[in-house]
Amino acid sequence: MSKVMVLGSGGREHAIAWKLAQSPAIEEVLCVPGNPGTAQEDKCRNLPLSPLDSSTLISAAHAERIALVVIGPEAPLVTGVSDALRRSGISVFGPNAAAARLEGSKAFAKEFMERHGIPTAAYGRFTSLEAGRQFLQSCALPIVVKADGLASGKGVVIAATRAEAEEALARFLAWGPVLLEEFLEGEEASFIAILSEGQVLPLAGSQDHKRLGDGDQGPNTGGMGAYSPAPILDTAMNERVRREVMQPMARALQAEGLSFRGFLYAGLMITRDGPKVLEFNCRLGDPETQPLLLRLRSDLYPVLRAAALADPLPTTLDWDPRTALCVVLAAPGYPEAVRSGSPILGLPVHEAEHTKIFHAGTATRDGDIVTAGGRVLGVTALGASVAHAQQRAYDLAAGIHWPGQQLRKDIGWRARSRS
Ligand code: AMP
Ligand code: GLY
Repeated sequence: MSKVMVLGSGGREHAIAWKLAQSPAIEEVLCVPGNPGTAQEDKCRNLPLSPLDSSTLISAAHAERIALVVIGPEAPLVTGVSDALRRSGISVFGPNAAAARLEGSKAFAKEFMERHGIPTAAYGRFTSLEAGRQFLQSCALPIVVKADGLASGKGVVIAATRAEAEEALARFLAWGPVLLEEFLEGEEASFIAILSEGQVLPLAGSQDHKRLGDGDQGPNTGGMGAYSPAPILDTAMNERVRREVMQPMARALQAEGLSFRGFLYAGLMITRDGPKVLEFNCRLGDPETQPLLLRLRSDLYPVLRAAALADPLPTTLDWDPRTALCVVLAAPGYPEAVRSGSPILGLPVHEAEHTKIFHAGTATRDGDIVTAGGRVLGVTALGASVAHAQQRAYDLAAGIHWPGQQLRKDIGWRARSRS
């Protein structure tokens, strides 16, 4: 029996810890720092340490005889927590900092894709207002303006006019290089795979809902809901993404001497010309993880452990054929100015087998669970169809309240509009 450590405290990490705890090979899951949701899970224990503090994590991992550390969010990956843990002999699932630049720097990711012929939008990289302006004079509209570094979804502007593009260019240049990118038309989807030293094991496809409002209106968020499978990623398209994006990426990472043992997330635009990469992340998506792991039947632990050790990966994973759908319940003011601290009313004590409520931004206060972040809960359900999963998730969400709660009413609309 083994002990694992999961770094992070969001809905994604609750789902990872919950899934790992179901493994017969797992004795205990230490959640660092975890959240009130992970605190309630069987075999899970929260450890109030920072997921960014490598030396404390190394001591804790040795003291607890941890067999595997799974890194949930991007910050510890980009700042080199994986590297530090590996150097001290700990098995880690999550890429080193050098490879996590695929997420940490959009310019690095674009240049990498260009070098290796990975399909993506045409772009230019600019460090001066003058050169950027000159490019904007003759480019097609709309044009996409992107800040180079991690910006939690706030570093992308789709400019309909040259004036709007110039304004964003000037604003983003204050932080560093700026990309001006061809606008791609199509439908977005998330394709995540486990990579380990050249091996590729794809997960099921999924689709996120990045905008705050129904009908994909309003500001960008971390994601207001997700579901899996995504009909746009049918068998043929999945195969194309594996062949045109994931396998070449796995080979390219090896060719450039970048060790990668972790999740590679391709944010895709499925265009008329096929799949094109909008962005890479070096971790699971949040909230894509919640429906994905509700569908996953295979034991996750041996797969992550094999990937961390660069042992052979299985060729496929076993998925529940039903649809899983996650509706995010968010705090008032999200994403701009979150207001926290409201007691959460109506959280069920027992959940049906086909539903699961994942905690994201919650805290415990005087024995009550209160809101403590932008995205508060991920209400997730399995159903025989998208409509059925949707109905179950929304029925469950309807009983959970706090003042000013925000949620989208249309998670899954793209899939439903097809059928
Ligand atoms: P990113 O952070 O690069 O994923 O961009 C955030 C969002 O902006 C994406 O989810 C897309 O909806 C949109 N976006 C980014 N790049 C493009 C592009 N080249 N063409 C169209 N939409 C884009
Ligand atoms: N849901 C999008 C992301 O995790 O980046």
